[in-house]
Amino acid sequence: MTNRWQGRVVRLRAVDPEDWEAHYHWDQDSEMSGRLDFVWPPTSRARARRWAEETSRQPDDDNLALEIEALESGALVGHIGVHDSDRRIGSFSYGLAVLPEHQRRGYASEAILLVARYFFQELRYQKVNAQVHSDNTPSLALHEKLGFAREGALRRMVYTGGQFYDLMCFGMTAEEFAARYPELASAR
Ligand SMILES: CC(C)(COP(=O)(O)OP(=O)(O)OC[C@H]1O[C@@H](n2cnc3c(N)ncnc32)[C@H](O)[C@@H]1OP(=O)(O)O)[C@@H](O)C(=O)NCCC(=O)NCCS
Repeated sequence: MTNRWQGRVVRLRAVDPEDWEAHYHWDQDSEMSGRLDFVWPPTSRARARRWAEETSRQPDDDNLALEIEALESGALVGHIGVHDSDRRIGSFSYGLAVLPEHQRRGYASEAILLVARYFFQELRYQKVNAQVHSDNTPSLALHEKLGFAREGALRRMVYTGGQFYDLMCFGMTAEEFAARYPELASAR
């Protein structure tokens, strides 16, 4: 059996209702939420349970929410959530996070590539976008390394920690993906 949601180091899977507790704890990591968005207010256990319960259902659109599991240990190491999927234009964006103790093992890279392959090869999308806070050095380096084009900056679109930041826009077309990752583009 092959699972197209599985790569060399991670497997992407749907959110289960039982995952609420992991997300409840992650959401208290102010550094992580500040890099994704801004420092979120405390969330309740009830809200985290409701989110996991609702998210565990198949979405009506293509905005998939996926847990990142490390293949080696089976541990839940992060999350990738597709948003702004536009079936007419064929473009989508995502946000993702890998827990600090599991970083620098290629998990984020592979999760992004698995999602991009699925959207390009199964759902006929043609462009993936990513927006990164201008001070988020790890994520800027990640997207550069994956071969995303730096498409520009939206100025002063982020406010966190008492400061404004720009939003750096990255993108990769389906053709660029196929040229850079021929082994992924041709695999069945
Ligand atoms: C950004 C993030 C998702 C990267 O996850 P990761 O699993 O550690 O990333 P990878 O292991 O796939 O890293 C791939 C490459 O990205 C770059 N990179 C990742 N983390 C880096 C860091 N802390 N400093 C510099 N470069 C980094 C490196 O080039 C790395 O390759 P290398 O390890 O061979 O040098 C993770 O740091 C994170 O969750 N941060 C908090 C939330 C966040 O910023 N999300 C992204 C919002 S756009």
